[in-house]
Amino acid sequence: MPGEAAKERTLVLVKPDGVRRGLMGEVLSRYERRGLKVVAAKLMQIPKDLAEKHYEEHKAKPFFPELVKFITSAPVLALAVEGRNAVAVVRAMNGATKPWESAPGTIRGDLALALTPNVVHASDSVPTAQRELPLYFSEKEYVSYHRVDEDYF
Ligand code: CMP
Repeated sequence: MPGEAAKERTLVLVKPDGVRRGLMGEVLSRYERRGLKVVAAKLMQIPKDLAEKHYEEHKAKPFFPELVKFITSAPVLALAVEGRNAVAVVRAMNGATKPWESAPGTIRGDLALALTPNVVHASDSVPTAQRELPLYFSEKEYVSYHRVDEDYF
């Protein structure tokens, strides 16, 4: 539609705490109900080298080893989520990184209280999404379909 934001893709990881707490469906259904489209999905155990690549911007931070240890500690659900303004919409739905600062109604505001096990990761900008998505999905792993709510206009 004219005047609407461009379609974007973003990477979401339901982190090991989310998977181990049985929250994959809860998290996924929130994005689906919002109108975002899941265009790739993979339940996977992240190897150490991928974790280090994913979090390379935090390499110098004191919490880097903890971050890598945690994200490789159990499977994650990797999702490529598409929609208008998907990067900002998903981040708003996830809530503040520090769950004690996230608003009720957000994923972390409703489901998390700790900083490292904070249920979800999502790309923080379009360039970050463009860097992160290929770490998890090859081009041929994306599917193409129309959600029913894309056909209103
Ligand atoms: P995520 O969106 O996966 O990106 C980087 C992660 O680092 C972030 O979520 C938090 O889980 C984690 N993080 C950020 N700051 C700290 C910190 N000070 N101590 C431990 N973990 C942190």
